[in-house]
Amino acid sequence: MSVFQMYGRWLDIIVILFVFLCAKASIRYVCYWRMMRQQGCQPSCKKAFVRDPFIGLDFAYDRLFQGSPARNLKGSFDMYKRLGATYTVNRLTTQTIYTCDAANIKRLLATSFDDYKLPAVRVCVMGDLLGPGIFTLNGHSWSNARSLLRPALRKERLCGLPNILESHMQSMLRQISFKGSSLDLQPLFFSLTMDIATEFLMGYSTNMLENPDGSAQQFVDDYMVCSTEAARKMTLGPLRFLRSNSAAKQSKTRVFKYIDSYIDECLKRMETRNLAVEHGNLLQELSSAIEDRQMLRDQVLHILLASRDTTASLLSNLFFVLARMPEVYAKLRREIVAAMGDSVPDFSQLRELQYLRWCINESLRLHPVIPSNAREAAQDTVLPVGGGPDGDSPLLVRRGTIVLYHVYSMHRDPAVYGNDVEEFRPERWDGLRPGWAFLPFSGGPRVCIGQQMALMESYYIVVRLVQAFERLEPTDYKPWSELFALATTCENGVHVKMHKA
Ligand code: HEM
Ligand SMILES: *[C@@H]1O[C@H](CO)[C@@H](O)[C@H](O)[C@H]1NC(C)=O
Repeated sequence: MSVFQMYGRWLDIIVILFVFLCAKASIRYVCYWRMMRQQGCQPSCKKAFVRDPFIGLDFAYDRLFQGSPARNLKGSFDMYKRLGATYTVNRLTTQTIYTCDAANIKRLLATSFDDYKLPAVRVCVMGDLLGPGIFTLNGHSWSNARSLLRPALRKERLCGLPNILESHMQSMLRQISFKGSSLDLQPLFFSLTMDIATEFLMGYSTNMLENPDGSAQQFVDDYMVCSTEAARKMTLGPLRFLRSNSAAKQSKTRVFKYIDSYIDECLKRMETRNLAVEHGNLLQELSSAIEDRQMLRDQVLHILLASRDTTASLLSNLFFVLARMPEVYAKLRREIVAAMGDSVPDFSQLRELQYLRWCINESLRLHPVIPSNAREAAQDTVLPVGGGPDGDSPLLVRRGTIVLYHVYSMHRDPAVYGNDVEEFRPERWDGLRPGWAFLPFSGGPRVCIGQQMALMESYYIVVRLVQAFERLEPTDYKPWSELFALATTCENGVHVKMHKA
């Protein structure tokens, strides 16, 4: 075979490949075109400016050198105000959709749920940290994990919670009087929710607020290292491979070992004493359905991550504001004292406290703990708005497109909440029914399964603190700003002076 012939054969192959790719692209294009026509889609006219429309180098530059503007809550909100509630970032081959429109978010999370999956970044980063579990799974394995966990968190299963809450609440009150009246509440909330979550999940508390033993302290430190690392990697997105952190890997190994020791103990106790499952902790309940130790550990870690930082962040954000709004605090205190004096509340009493519920809703509106999130289109699909010059025509979402949705900005829609959206005003909840425009716990099939528990826990903790303290005073006057972690909390802590009742 001459060189020329060989060259000719290669040329044939290249030509065939080229024709094949062109045909494939054309077929896909025709499909899009037909879908766009059928659904009345219009291309997006609201586009964010990109310096590099080809491979997205400006994205890389921002992530590596400036911190990401997309992770800055106010910055993102300004983008929506400037460009509209749905806009796109277009590159040569990919489009990313940004939306804070309630109709789009409802379609994304509920009506067209099956058209989407979790983005690869989340599945990789969280899966690497926690193992496979409800937070990283899609499809059947996700619905299996969910139906396994859900029964354990039903309302009627929370009967053991009040006792757990009260004993750790007492530890927190002792810590406050030990520290003196000026303190940062935020780390106390994080310790408190860790103590409560570990006892609820495994039957053993880390007791961070009392005198934690060395292994509990190490566990909590390691857990923090792991979750901070996960948050950093998620921010880096596709560039996360640039980060390698051997300390985080060691922490992860120790976290696993710590949880495993409790799982083993729990399994042993179940064998020998055959404990009544009705009054057990979550681990006991799961272990009757799951045999595999590693799978049990994954479930426990996923629930710990879902429950601890979120609840502590909600409490911190709320008390940050309460300290700065003495009239709101006083009104809340009047309601609580009128209903239960300084006695221990039960869950049915807590549900009756209307102003408290307004305050919690208002905190979750103004400072949502999960302020933004994303899904990836698993197939070609359509969002109801965002296309055309006014942004009110349907928008085509091609398979593989990432849709980022911004709950923080949606919670500031004046059409729903009025013109004073930046104010903390619990009274706005009087008669307000925002529906899909209020999503602190998400919505649709993947709605938070811990909502009841989170609310009862938060109500309880707020009531016990407000009963014990006549008033709060802030000891710094910085405005609220976010600390971006897996859950969003106060960047500068919650420094207050607390005045005993
Ligand atoms: C203030 C506290 C909380 C907030 C604001 C909150 C918020 C959320 C949000 C927004 C999601 C959806 C995430 C997504 O779709 O990507 C979620 C999911 C979840 N939450 Fe919560 N959560 C809180 C507390 C809890 C607690 C206490 C538990 C458990 C005891 C819990 C368990 C879960 C689980 C397991 C999921 C995943 C559900 C699924 O993917 O099917 N959460 N939560
Ligand atoms: C808080 O928000 C939820 C969700 O929209 C709503 O169901 C509830 O009624 C609100 N609570 C109050 C007291 O308005």
